[in-house]
Amino acid sequence: MTEAQMQMNEPEAHFGEGESAARRETGPVILDLKNISLSFGGVRALTDISFDVRQHEIRAIIGPNGAGKSSMLNVINGVYRPQQGQITYRGEVRKNMDCHAAAKSGIARTFQNIALFKGMTVLDNIMTGRNLKMKSNFLMQALYWGPARREEIAHRIKAEEIIDFLEIQAIRKTPVGRLPYGLQKRVELGRALAAEPEILLLDEPMAGMNVEEKQDMCRFILDVNDQFGTTIVLIEHDMGVVMDISDRVVVLDYGKKIGDGTPDEVRCNQDVINAYLGVACS
Ligand SMILES: Nc1ncnc2c1ncn2[C@@H]1O[C@H](COP(=O)(O)OP(=O)(O)OP(=O)(O)O)[C@@H](O)[C@H]1O
Ligand SMILES: [Mg+2]
Repeated sequence: MTEAQMQMNEPEAHFGEGESAARRETGPVILDLKNISLSFGGVRALTDISFDVRQHEIRAIIGPNGAGKSSMLNVINGVYRPQQGQITYRGEVRKNMDCHAAAKSGIARTFQNIALFKGMTVLDNIMTGRNLKMKSNFLMQALYWGPARREEIAHRIKAEEIIDFLEIQAIRKTPVGRLPYGLQKRVELGRALAAEPEILLLDEPMAGMNVEEKQDMCRFILDVNDQFGTTIVLIEHDMGVVMDISDRVVVLDYGKKIGDGTPDEVRCNQDVINAYLGVACS
């Protein structure tokens, strides 16, 4: 039984206080992926996948383990270069974009396995998300001189704003490695937000959380989308979460796209039911 199938049988929990799709206004296409194929040697991770993401949308990517979901995010943020296909971002065809350039262009992400500096405090981890925005050079920073000092203060204020937004003031000086898993995931979201992204890619931000922790994380994701206007691409196995907070869902299976549409459309798509959900829609 897949994770999705187990969750479809669980008692219903609600995520996002009925906030979802119906009330959210999305804009034009901001990211357009056309015929993307990616192989690792003999392994075809993605085969001829096309889908788009609209501005201000919450776009979910779902599918069984090994379906190619994380690989898709790695293509979007320039970690992997697909052998075939075309990516258009904000109306421009993207050529040879690496992950640094993708981050500079406003694409931030969190990872399936938490990627934080465990010995550093929450505040310092969130500050690392500001790196791309820092203008002063190493020498100025080392001397903590003039403009560098003013810049550092401005970045700290931004980091503190994110800490307030995510309601983690009480742990701002705590080393991340001492925090429970759910809070570490929240700090990772904070690090990504510190880059003030236009598109936020979240790879299983709720994996391993209990229902209350998931509800909290959903609330933060919806607030980021609502208050900062951030477009969100979300990989998630919990179908309750996907149904409640996403506008549209793309479904992958063995590296191929087998469904794309509103949560209700994919829930009733027979290929998706066969490959992943296991339960017919009512
Ligand atoms: N760096 C890599 N080198 C070789 N094969 C890889 C690499 N990254 C992914 N793959 C393969 O590509 C396929 C898709 O993997 P991917 O991690 O994208 O799946 P996923 O849908 O995110 O799965 P999960 O739900 O388990 O996280 C798998 O067969 C995987 O083994
Ligand atoms: Mg994955």
